[in-house]
This record gives sequence, structure tokens and C-alpha cells, in this order.
Amino acid sequence: MQKSILVTGGAGYIGSHAVLALKDNGWNPVVIDNLVTGFRGAVPQDVPFVEGNIADHDLVSATIKKYNIIAAMHFAGSVVVPESVSDPLKYYYNNTANTRSLLESIIKNEVRHFIFSSTAATYGIPETTPVHEDMPKIPINPYGTSKLMTEYMLADVAAAHDFNYCALRYFNVAGADPKGRTGQSTAGATHLIKVAVEAALGKRDSISIFGTDYDTEDGTGVRDYIHVSDLAAAHVIALEKLIDSPEDSHILNCGYGHGFSVTQVLDAVDRVTNNKLVRNLEPRRAGDPDALISDNSKIKQRFGWTPQYDDLNLIVKHALAWEQRLIENPIA
Ligand code: UFG
Repeated sequence: MQKSILVTGGAGYIGSHAVLALKDNGWNPVVIDNLVTGFRGAVPQDVPFVEGNIADHDLVSATIKKYNIIAAMHFAGSVVVPESVSDPLKYYYNNTANTRSLLESIIKNEVRHFIFSSTAATYGIPETTPVHEDMPKIPINPYGTSKLMTEYMLADVAAAHDFNYCALRYFNVAGADPKGRTGQSTAGATHLIKVAVEAALGKRDSISIFGTDYDTEDGTGVRDYIHVSDLAAAHVIALEKLIDSPEDSHILNCGYGHGFSVTQVLDAVDRVTNNKLVRNLEPRRAGDPDALISDNSKIKQRFGWTPQYDDLNLIVKHALAWEQRLIENPIA
């Protein structure tokens, strides 16, 4: 029977790109998603789809057996930082408790490899940037803490069982599949590039710049924006490394190692659209660090990961193309 890879949250933004990357590289993904924030239409028709909860032991066990699952990529979870502050228990439930349940099904069914969507939010406000994996992890919101707790669980599970894992700490994920097959479809998104392309296409009147007095060159916040397809490619490499070296686990930053300010991002959107966004200068958003840039030397050395889309204009172009396609043909 052919081997398959379980993709939790495969109907979501990053998960749907991982599904494509797996298929493009000859793997067989199987998606489990509860469709609370994901879209059935984001999963290709020929990919097995299971609608349900990752904490449902019977469903997950049956899926593992039915499709001969040998590894899991775990994207399912809640991702809105301010919401994690107002409703922390939702985050400890969806991100931490449900992952614990999923891991129990994984271990009981002898699935040996696990790739986890972690986040730069585990670092909190780093003292220096670029931030290296070994620097202190002091999350400043429940979202970051809920993900860090999962990293701790994974380390303990790997020590106790025949199991290895890779936690990828994402920096600012943006853009869409270069072939236009999937993209970020989330309603009410808050992420800068998504919001900016919505404004560029008239879905919003203007864009807010949150804070102009940061300790950065132009005073606006600096982030390390990574194209979602480069991130998806890193997951496929992680899968292959975990299988090839079952004794080794990895915790790796996933970013380009350089950043852009909010102003630079909006300038790129203006360049790509040949138009001018209406910009509102507003106070800082709570909990935003001045700059957050990855030190990506570890993932490059260990995995030989070589980004293909390290180009802000291209990231914006792909995000814009997907936004346009959503207007013409809304996803369901
Ligand atoms: N920003 C604006 N206007 C907007 C949206 C964002 O000025 O309308 C600014 C923010 O203040 C920040 C930058 O654009 O300086 C990026 O903000 P995002 O909301 O796009 O992303 P964050 O850096 O806040 O969040 C990202 C990830 C989170 C992760 C966090 C870690 O999306 O998952 O980094 O700090 F938790």
C-alpha cells in the first residue's frame, strides 16, 4: 500500500501550500481539517480529505490506518495574536491541548515523524536581531506560549518514543502559490501584506501604519517576510530529513534573514500596482517589537534550503494575483 503524509489544517493558508509542495515532489498528502477557518476548495480534488477534529482519536487513528500514514505535518491551530490575548484558553485548547491529543494518536499508531508549525512569536521581543534559535524564548502572548509548550511536548515525546520531529519557527509568511492554485483566503485577515493587497484592490479604503516611532531606519516596524511557497518547500525537505535520519530532530527558524519596514512593504505594493495606497499613520499596536529578523543559517546548513522567491515585489505580486482571483471566483 502506498505511504501517505497526514496534513492537519491542509485546507488553510500554509497547509494548502504544503499539500501542493508534497504533491509536486511525489508524496501523497491526506488532509484532515475541521473547516473552521479552512476552505474545502483549497484542497485539490484528488487529495483525500477528512473533515474533522485532530483531537478525535478514533477518526485520526482510522485515517492513519486507512491511508498508511508515515508522517504528519501539523498546521491546524489558531493563529491570531490579539485574539490569543483576549481568549487565551481557546489557544491553549486548539494549539496545545489538541496537539497533545493528536500526538497521542500519532504515537499509538506508530507514526514516526512529525513536522510542526511553530512561530517567531516564541521569542517574544528579542534583545537583538537577527534572532538565533538558541536565544531566549520569552513569548509575550498566549499564541507564542501555546506554540512553545508544543515544542516542549515534542522534545519529551521524541526522548521517550521512537519518533523524531522538526519544529519550524515561521517569521512573517506572505504571498501565494506562484501558479495561482491556492493563497490566503482568510476573511478579516490582519497581516500586513494581505491587508495591503485588499486595500489595493478596493476591498478596504485605506491601510493603517501602526507606529512610526520605532527604533528602525524609517520608524516603522521591520519584519522578515517569507514567501509561503519557500516555507512549504522547507516542510518537504524537513520530511525527507526526518525519514533519512530518524535519530535527529530539529528546531529551525524559517525566514530570509533580512527585513523590510511597513513603509517599504507599502511602497512595494504601490510599485507593483502602479497606484498609491491611502496610508493612515496610527499609534503602535500593543506587543509589536521594533524589528524581527531570522538568523536562518541553521536551516540553510542543515537542510540546504535555498529560497526561490526572496523578492518582496514577487511576494506582493503573488499575493495580489490571489486576491484578484478571490474577487473573480470566491473560494468556498
Ligand atoms: N502592520 C501595519 N498595519 C497593518 C498590519 C500590520 O502597520 O494593517 C504592521 C505591524 O505593526 C508590524 C508589521 O506590519 O510592524 C507586520 O505585522 P503583521 O500583523 O503582518 O505580522 P506580525 O509581525 O504581527 O505577526 C507575525 C506572525 C505571527 C507571529 C508574529 C511574531 O504573523 O504569527 O509575527 O511576532 F506571532
